[in-house]
Amino acid sequence: MDNTDIAAVCQKVLNDNWRGSYTIPSSKMYPHQWLWDSCFIAIGLRHFNIERAQQELLSLGRGQWKNGMLPNMIFASDGRYRQDREIWESKVNPNAPDAVATTGITQPPVLAEAVVQVGKKLNEQQRQAWYKQMYPMLVNYHQWLYTERDPHNEGLVLQIHPYETGLDNTPPMIAEIFEHHQPWWTNILRFVPAEAMINVFRRDLKHIPYIDRMSNTEVLLYYDIIKRLKRKHYEIERVLPHAKILFEDLTFNCILIRANKHLKDIAEAIDRPLSLFLIEKMQKAEAAIDNFWDPYKEEYFSRNFITRQHTKISTLACLMPLYSGAIRKERAEDVVKKLHDHSAFDVSFPVPSVPVNSPWFHEHKYWQGPTWINTNWLIIQGLRQYGFNEEAKRLTNSSLQLVDDHGPYEYFSPLDGSPSGAKNFSWTAALTLDLLNEK
Ligand code: GLC
Repeated sequence: MDNTDIAAVCQKVLNDNWRGSYTIPSSKMYPHQWLWDSCFIAIGLRHFNIERAQQELLSLGRGQWKNGMLPNMIFASDGRYRQDREIWESKVNPNAPDAVATTGITQPPVLAEAVVQVGKKLNEQQRQAWYKQMYPMLVNYHQWLYTERDPHNEGLVLQIHPYETGLDNTPPMIAEIFEHHQPWWTNILRFVPAEAMINVFRRDLKHIPYIDRMSNTEVLLYYDIIKRLKRKHYEIERVLPHAKILFEDLTFNCILIRANKHLKDIAEAIDRPLSLFLIEKMQKAEAAIDNFWDPYKEEYFSRNFITRQHTKISTLACLMPLYSGAIRKERAEDVVKKLHDHSAFDVSFPVPSVPVNSPWFHEHKYWQGPTWINTNWLIIQGLRQYGFNEEAKRLTNSSLQLVDDHGPYEYFSPLDGSPSGAKNFSWTAALTLDLLNEK
């Protein structure tokens, strides 16, 4: 396909997935609005429909909790999805919005990035108005993140469910959960053929082979964490003392650090001073990224919030400090070396979500091997930020090649590019449009 054809395919996907005021990730598997999906989607939409890009982000405000939290999902009100809404039952918490049902957890804070990227397509006066419109949602969200999620006052925020990382079943999370969160019923699963029974309830398995998705045991463990959070009404003071598993995710925190910088710029542009509380937290955050560095392995890792140990399993998260912009140039060079490592990340269609030499690697299994366009996009921004333009160009080209060869799928094999997951996936389409434009 030439570039105009790819762009047309991607625009069509975004048009088909548009639901009047927001875009769903894909029509069969993901029928609700997701937080970071909408941010990536707006970044693509801005190239051909700026009003819709703005509407996409404004729609996220429907779900904002009174304490500032932006939930990772706002559920469609359709009768078909009652079960999804009931699993979470967000109304157990008085901060939940009245008009829509949401989850009780968040997702990586890409919002400030999306607001700025959309702003770049507006003239000065429009941009001011746009920033003013988005500022309350954004500032309340960051204020909430630091008020509730940084109890150690280090500048790093914690995640209470793996879904909050956006990389649902990334190996470090799964490994930590298997080690620290073993409810009594996991023993029963060894004897009961629960796998077959549960398959009936999973929407994803109606479209994708079981081997490529999370196992049922993993899904049940994730559900168990939701149940425990719900029992505590998603109130952080009640969740923290009893939680068996809490994370300080590297990707989430790197995204937040860059988002903080965007928020500062936005506040300055519209002359709204940020609170001292936020300014101090933002400063701490930039320095705190060193807490993720393991000097022996010479790699960045997420941390287990409770044990305070690094989760020493390599994933693409080790490249995300480039996106944060908060590391020294020499350290950035060390990080980029990983991208050049043939035995790990330098494969035919990078960047694999788990390095190919990892025992966890599986070319088609969700966040345990495949290449995703959204994480590639984040890494490309990081590479550009540090002046690694050649690497950024190469990664842009290989990402576009995947979509050109197969269409905007959810994820792809890093080995041969074969597609997996949902077809006509919105953020793949949107970020492809963005990469085409940047090229
Ligand atoms: C999956 C992904 C998550 C995404 C959601 C909707 O749960 O892991 O990152 O937001 O699907 O696309």
